[in-house]
Amino acid sequence: MPGDTFYITTPIYYLNGHPHIGHAYTTIVADAAARWQRLKGREVRFMTGTDEHGQKVLEAAEALGLSPQEHTDRLVVHWKATFERLGIAHDRFIRTTDADHVALVTEVLRKLYEAGEIYRGDYEGWYLVKDEVFVTEKEREERIASGELAEQDFRRITEANYFFRMSQHRQALLDHIEAHPNFIQPENRRNEVLGFLRQDLGDLCISRPRSRMSWGIELPFDPDFVCYVWVDALLNYLTGAGFRADGDEAYLKWWPVDYHLIGKDILTTHAVYWTTMLFALGVRQPQHIFAHGWWISSDGAKMSKSTGNVIDVGLLCDAFGVDATRYFFLREIRFGADGGFSYDGFLSRYNTDLANDLGNLAHRALSMTTKWLGATVPARAEPDAALRAIAERAASAFDQHLGVLEPKEAIEALWELVRAGNKYVDDSEPWALNKAGKTEALASVMRDLLEICAVAGLLLQPVMPGKAAELLQKVGLDNPRAQLASLLSAERVLDLLQEGAPLQLGDPLFPRFREMPESIASLFVPEETMDEADVPLPELEWIEYPDFAKLLLKVGVVLQASDHPNADKLLVMKVDVGEARPRTICAGIKGTFSPEELVGRTVVVVANLKPRKLRGIPSEGMILAAGGEIVTDLVTAKAAPGDTVR
Ligand code: MSP
Repeated sequence: MPGDTFYITTPIYYLNGHPHIGHAYTTIVADAAARWQRLKGREVRFMTGTDEHGQKVLEAAEALGLSPQEHTDRLVVHWKATFERLGIAHDRFIRTTDADHVALVTEVLRKLYEAGEIYRGDYEGWYLVKDEVFVTEKEREERIASGELAEQDFRRITEANYFFRMSQHRQALLDHIEAHPNFIQPENRRNEVLGFLRQDLGDLCISRPRSRMSWGIELPFDPDFVCYVWVDALLNYLTGAGFRADGDEAYLKWWPVDYHLIGKDILTTHAVYWTTMLFALGVRQPQHIFAHGWWISSDGAKMSKSTGNVIDVGLLCDAFGVDATRYFFLREIRFGADGGFSYDGFLSRYNTDLANDLGNLAHRALSMTTKWLGATVPARAEPDAALRAIAERAASAFDQHLGVLEPKEAIEALWELVRAGNKYVDDSEPWALNKAGKTEALASVMRDLLEICAVAGLLLQPVMPGKAAELLQKVGLDNPRAQLASLLSAERVLDLLQEGAPLQLGDPLFPRFREMPESIASLFVPEETMDEADVPLPELEWIEYPDFAKLLLKVGVVLQASDHPNADKLLVMKVDVGEARPRTICAGIKGTFSPEELVGRTVVVVANLKPRKLRGIPSEGMILAAGGEIVTDLVTAKAAPGDTVR
């Protein structure tokens, strides 16, 4: 029996990466689960955030001439904006640089050290900087041989370090997994962890010498070392619960956490490192660790910024709306499985489920009622018995599935009802009832249809908060929270609306897209030649698209600017274009701009213009300007250094 609190977390994201659908995905699922529990009256804590320490962040900050804190403060803005755009209602956005988190990590490390769970030893091994992990010789060889990584991705490291006695907790972990079949989900991931634990489990290196890596939380028992970024990151889940290492039990309000949602690639760190740390601390295990699959682009390629196949969630929201975007990710694949993403797949899911099934049902119910019976909820004696049974089943299945992180199955259960509603319209032919003057029968049919819309609106609140509220308003339903309770308790199924409540027909909820929205279609414009006569433009030396495509235009932010020492018209700037180090760019805009007013401005940089020296200073690009102004109108607030301008 669940308690009256619910705590759910997403991984905290490496903030030096760009937010993409992989990150959006976990966060949308967690948000839907959290919203559902809130609607059901539980007190909820939903936490997401960013993982901010570590080598990569430090190196990127140094290259930009910024302190790591300044660098992370700049980057975190994109993450928060992305989640806001997606309607994510988190209770806390945690940053591992937050003061309470730093204090907690310090306290926990001290406690583990004093308990003898941490010892000092020597370490020699291969370090994979990209993932901030040590790897075995065998793994290194395999990953180089497969072509996935290169020799220079690994560093040979020999150093004194601190270790956590992870191996001591192996048996306790095995016993816990055996005794709690739903602890690690889905089943295949549970088996993966059991397989991993069948091998020898070593101890975990939990420190990095400050001489090599200073951007981290200092070990309280040795200031020459900072905490390994994964140990720091995992502890965020306890910070979010308000854990204190001094025995204060207030955190038990939230702990054990109900769900840690993670991607399959970070299973070992959660199911082994984290759980053994909890054993060592004497803190209870999470109720569930749920590892989902990966979205890959439809050609089967893993999404990565370098291959350019990252799907921009902002683009999807602009084109189809945030609610449809959330719907797609919750409905398209079973949570746990891998999924292939294609824009065509998105469009067809939108048109089939949202425009045709739900949108059509709502529009038919509202427009026919309004036209023939007036714009209020009509009276009727009893709901149709068969429909009532379907609605009751749909509501209960929806609740059960969403409660155990099965959003696809939950939505499918609701769609049984939506489809039954559309079939009911076809079968009962309200237009014929109207024509024959059978007003009472007509009112019954229309009322049932409006009631189905009310059920859909109530259940879809966690999935599509905006559209669900709109639908409920259209059918005149007040007080959704109380009504949801009476629906789920089967007290009032297809009996939620008040006779006489006002209906609002308005525009269709989900207009049909006959073709791909322009903003997406333009990503894939097919080649067609034009007659010269169709081009009433001046004689120009036209270039072909491939010529244009050679131009790499990037968004940059000016970090520094000063007068060129040897040229009257030139300014010298350092511009962050999202690379490991800023570019030096000389531009002939002195006189138009003072160096001070340029710092912090967003510019468009021609990034692949061959570098050359201008009066003794190398210039590694060009910034676009027109009419005495820098070209920034092209750039929206959403663009980040390194984004490509097209
Ligand atoms: N910072 C660590 C997590 C620490 S949690 C204590 C991290 N960050 S990450 O930004 O690299 O990845 C975060 C999550 O994004 C992972 O769960 C990963 O599985 C997920 N995804 C990244 N790309 C993805 C897809 N293409 N598809 C689905 N999820 C993917 O790891």
